[in-house]
Amino acid sequence: MIRLAFLLAFAPVVAPVLALAATPDGKDIALHGNANGALPCAACHGVDGAGKPSTGAPALAGLPAGTIAAALAGFAKGQGGSPLMQSIAQALSPAETQAVAAYFAGLPKP
Ligand code: HEC
Repeated sequence: MIRLAFLLAFAPVVAPVLALAATPDGKDIALHGNANGALPCAACHGVDGAGKPSTGAPALAGLPAGTIAAALAGFAKGQGGSPLMQSIAQALSPAETQAVAAYFAGLPKP
């Protein structure tokens, strides 16, 4: 009984820490891709997210996170984008899509 009370007392402390650990790192995905085969966004969109004319990849920096996430969600379903961008979007989990969208949204507009 004492042990249960102990666990209950700490649950509010432990739960947010676990949730934080499970949150994907948008910057890490942007710079290194993910283990599921998503290529690093920075390779084509630029480390600063300003886009790269040589790759045809548009700027992402400073766009609303919702716009980026919606574009990726569409690509993942085969709506718009190149086959390459579609396969990258498909390799991102919904949580990773949100995280990487939030990361680029937080970069200064080019
Ligand atoms: C191999 C190059 C390449 C990589 C890697 C890449 N992209 Fe793209 N991305 C493009 C190109 C090119 C376009 C333009 C549309 C198209 O051809 O699909 C694009 C379009 C987009 C768009 C639509 C932007 C708009 O304004 O319409 C979003 C959002 C996007 N990419 C996000 C990402 C994210 C996030 C990653 C990393 C997980 C990523 N891209 C990785 C090349 C790339």
